Amino acid sequence: MKVAVLGAAGGIGQALALLLKTQLPAGSKLSLYDIAPVTPGVAVDLSHIPTAVEVKGFSGEDPTPALEGADVVLISAGVARKPGMDRSDLFNINAGIVRNLIEKVAVTCPKALVGIITNPVNTTVAIAAEVLKKAGVYDKNRLFGVTTLDVIRAETFVAEAKGVDVSSVKVNVIGGHSGVTILPLLSQIEGVSFSDEEVAALTKRIQNAGTEVVEAKAGGGSATLSMGQAAFRFGMSLIRGLQGEANVVECAYVDGGSEHAVFFAQPVLLGKNGVEKVLPYGEVSAFEANARDAMLDTLKGDIQLGVDFVK
Ligand code: NAD
Ligand code: LMR
Repeated sequence: MKVAVLGAAGGIGQALALLLKTQLPAGSKLSLYDIAPVTPGVAVDLSHIPTAVEVKGFSGEDPTPALEGADVVLISAGVARKPGMDRSDLFNINAGIVRNLIEKVAVTCPKALVGIITNPVNTTVAIAAEVLKKAGVYDKNRLFGVTTLDVIRAETFVAEAKGVDVSSVKVNVIGGHSGVTILPLLSQIEGVSFSDEEVAALTKRIQNAGTEVVEAKAGGGSATLSMGQAAFRFGMSLIRGLQGEANVVECAYVDGGSEHAVFFAQPVLLGKNGVEKVLPYGEVSAFEANARDAMLDTLKGDIQLGVDFVK
């Protein structure tokens, strides 16, 4: 297995690279790329950790050497929010960054599974899809918007609120990855129940959790460590699927034939070709059905922005 991280010198990239270096299966290769000149140094630093994972670092304008032979590509290259900004404010810079990187993916490793972390995810994934289509190599089963941070936040906050063991809490989070498009399906969680007020408050906290971190960091960036963990969990699930493990399921923002929008986050079964099957997200409460329907104009607008950007 070869995993490439693009944006590897950044806050998420370094946390993710550390987790991958320490926990990828023995014999794996880890390839780090960032425009920042420090990137080969980040790789040298990681290479002193005694695991059977080979790590190489690349910087400069061209990610091609990092992408050669990659099975999985995780992209966190781009700028992060500051207080007062919305994720959509990142579009002007990050749209071009994702387009340029995906153009190289299309040529160098078109069969790789690609996970997009760079915000605004609702839009950057649509950009990636259009670039891959233009290059004639689009496979909807191999492109993912990484929404795992919403899932781990939901699991953490629910366990805290209810005083239960966090490892026993599983939450599906559907829709997209910004504000009202983040919809945790709290009604489905086994073994706990919530009042209407609790559902409203927890849903809002999960939707605003990114802003909670941005404000707490007070101009120093957005979530990096929790996102490093989330991207690691998602990346490992992609690898476990590629290796033929059964029943690997994660929520992700995919082009999965949803009745709601071209891209929609929901549970997917992962396998040797990426998405093996898009799974139904199950029964929802009246509150959740309303919230789902109310988000769709926003989500579709975000997707269209990405499509128009590439056209
Ligand atoms: P950061 O500023 O710490 O790191 C970004 C890195 O990208 C930097 O090292 C920078 O040099 C690099 N970069 C910029 N342009 C590049 C290019 N053209 N090619 C290669 N590398 C390039 O930011 P961060 O905190 O790591 O966040 C990165 C992105 O992830 C942001 O857009 C942020 O909003 C997003 N994010 C998404 C989620 C999610 O849940 N999907 C969570 C947190 C952050
Ligand atoms: C998050 O959810 O933490 C990320 O999308 C970063 C952000 O800007 O909120």
